[in-house]
Amino acid sequence: MVSRVIPVDPFDLIIFGSTGDLALRKILPALFRRFCAGQWPKDVQIIGAARAAYDRGAFHEIVAESLRRHAPYQCNDAKMLASFLQRVDYVPLDAQSDEGWAQLAAKLTTDRVRAFYFSVGPRLFGPLAEQIHAHNLATQQTRIVVEKPFGHDLESARSLNATLAAHFNEGQIYRIDHYLGKETVQNLMAVRFGNMLFEPLWNSQYVDHIQITVAESVGIDGREEYYDRAGAMRDMMQNHLMQLLCLIAMEPPAKFDPDAVRDEKLKVIRALDPVEPHHIVRGQFEGDGPGYREVVGNPRSKTESYVALKAHLSNWRWAGTPFYLRTGKRLVARSSVINVMFKDAPHSIFGADAGRHANVLSIRLQPNEGITLKVTIKEPGQGGMRLVDVPLDMSFAEALGSENQDPPDAYERLVMDVIRGNQTLFMRGDEVEAAWAWTDPIIAGWQARGDVPKPYDSGSTGPGDAELLMKRDGRRWQGINP
Ligand code: BG6
Repeated sequence: MVSRVIPVDPFDLIIFGSTGDLALRKILPALFRRFCAGQWPKDVQIIGAARAAYDRGAFHEIVAESLRRHAPYQCNDAKMLASFLQRVDYVPLDAQSDEGWAQLAAKLTTDRVRAFYFSVGPRLFGPLAEQIHAHNLATQQTRIVVEKPFGHDLESARSLNATLAAHFNEGQIYRIDHYLGKETVQNLMAVRFGNMLFEPLWNSQYVDHIQITVAESVGIDGREEYYDRAGAMRDMMQNHLMQLLCLIAMEPPAKFDPDAVRDEKLKVIRALDPVEPHHIVRGQFEGDGPGYREVVGNPRSKTESYVALKAHLSNWRWAGTPFYLRTGKRLVARSSVINVMFKDAPHSIFGADAGRHANVLSIRLQPNEGITLKVTIKEPGQGGMRLVDVPLDMSFAEALGSENQDPPDAYERLVMDVIRGNQTLFMRGDEVEAAWAWTDPIIAGWQARGDVPKPYDSGSTGPGDAELLMKRDGRRWQGINP
């Protein structure tokens, strides 16, 4: 099946921090792929801005090199690459002084969507917002895009929100959580609210518990300083896993409209109970090469590279159904899966020998995006009635005939949504604050108790205590399979 491309109107996109890792690895390749897909009109303008004193040609070389690495398939077409670069410009500019701003202003087009992408550290959000205003660059059609980390705690997130709100209204602010741009994450909503099959069972009466796993095999190389201040709780749990939890647990919004969806997500976060200290396991990888503390160069670091916890939602739908969330670095595989574990049938008519079986709906976010429903059937050929579990498996690539295509990257969807002015897949300010309000006491508790993360082997499934967290409840984690 060929995916449908909905063209967008002409736009100017200005990327602050355009020589940084995120811009070169994610944003520019995503733009290039959308360009190759034929989604843009001719006169689009991408302007890189950063402190480095490059000229247009030098910036083109950097961009081309990064596109060859991160969008190799599209780069086979040299004409396409050249045509894309014609639309890419560069301005040396300093966020904290007036340098470069007049040159930027001179390049901008009037009467069209103008998106400023803040691909810079949060300390520059305020100065950038102020400069945009001081130089009269904010028009009616202006949007700003801000990256995570959006704050370090509730207080800093509030202050960032206030800084941005001084210059832009909420409808102009696009806070990225790239997990929301992943195809299968959006599919979560399609599966829940586009089918009659699941929603009637989607509550504590039928669901025993839910597991959300975001396992990574990579470590933290190159980001040691940031990561050692953040840890898995701030880096992954407060944002990506929280967003997945919201989409799994929220009530059906009345429509697929930005505020309707975000209102429901906010209600989920606000319904989260504080997490009991003995319902959290923190871990730090070691062995098989340098351990976490060696990597960050801090022999006494108490930062977690792994966290698993049990969360409860105090609301009508989910009271009594725990949510187990875990994420970590240097684990056995890269695998993000949500498992909805249904309850056993209330009574087995087949007797004790048939065994106990429960349905599991597995939503695989990456890799091999798809959905599997484990159903119970009769074991073929056996005398009597022995039951076995078999998967009803749907790989999206196979089902949609897209095996030979790269799945679209989250940034492709998100950047185009900014241009279209659709905020559904972006976090609202109050959502981010509510997520920090839940996270802060957890982290404060660790600090107050001097909590030290449990070591776990690189390449394993995480610390043994995470297994115990489940075992104590008579449950077990589903495997981490690539
Ligand atoms: C980022 C985190 O937000 O998400 C990283 O800062 C993490 O630590 C990354 O590796 C994971 O993203 P993905 O898309 O590779 O699952």
